[in-house]
Amino acid sequence: MIEVVVTSRKNEAEGICSYELSCALGNHLPAFTAGAHIDVHLPGGLVRQYSLCNHPHERHRYLIGVLHDPASRGGSRCLHEQVEAGQRLSISEPRNLFALVPKAARSVLFAGGIGITPILCMAEQLWLQGDDFELHYCVRSADRAAFLERLASAPFASRVQLHLDERPETRLDAERVLAAPGPQDHLYVCGPGGFMQHVLDSARSQGWPEAQLHREYFAAGPVDTRNDGSFSVKLGSTGQVFEVPADKTVVQVLESHGVAIAVSCEQGVCGTCLTGVLEGVPEHRDLYLTEDEQAANDQFTPCCSRARTGMLVLDL
Ligand code: FES
Repeated sequence: MIEVVVTSRKNEAEGICSYELSCALGNHLPAFTAGAHIDVHLPGGLVRQYSLCNHPHERHRYLIGVLHDPASRGGSRCLHEQVEAGQRLSISEPRNLFALVPKAARSVLFAGGIGITPILCMAEQLWLQGDDFELHYCVRSADRAAFLERLASAPFASRVQLHLDERPETRLDAERVLAAPGPQDHLYVCGPGGFMQHVLDSARSQGWPEAQLHREYFAAGPVDTRNDGSFSVKLGSTGQVFEVPADKTVVQVLESHGVAIAVSCEQGVCGTCLTGVLEGVPEHRDLYLTEDEQAANDQFTPCCSRARTGMLVLDL
């Protein structure tokens, strides 16, 4: 954990603020790479993940951008309503689950709304490396588009295309952009679920292999839990068996028996809780694993995923 102080808070667009965080002791912060995020421990005990969107070579600060989401589970509301410049917070070291693939021939970046935060950092990194890339930023209106000034004045401004819903002539034609992928091309997308699905479906229709598609979700949609039943989990190391009732997660059940699994998002987005499965078939409810990884059924996210078989034997 790192103690930081909010050195500035800035309105970036309608409903979006950026927070600049510096080490409370005045030290350098740990280095990070484009696509990394930090866990922010908020007043009241919530922990939320935010992508770093400053220049990836900076060590004196981290910058996060936060949308005041009306459907917030409390994190963005807390930041917007309670966190001002001067406040101290605890954060984790940066972790990167959305890293750029080295030596790509071309990188195509897609950001939807607040999904611009990791994508902006990627653009900075690719520019620094002298790599070929283009950035497509889709947003409802210019008022809601964060970091427009920074993008307009960036040395890579000519690589950025802004697609505004309020200006239909700027609409993103994803299939055209993604036509004829090369074997070393890579696509990165971050944004709302429907936007990401559209970009990924367009890529697949143009022949992009899954291995060249990279995504980061920032929130999971609601899951229908009405038909959830109970199942058992067994610890591979000790053979202990625990019942997981319909209204509890595997993480909650194990924790109540003294088996702690590290969690962060608790909604299948971040991968922190990823646990190996030795026997049984999980019912995957995460957005973290790829379809192929889910199909392998040898790991799952016990913060939200459940079981298709009566028992799961876990690699714990
Ligand atoms: Fe984030 Fe489980 S805690 S995926």
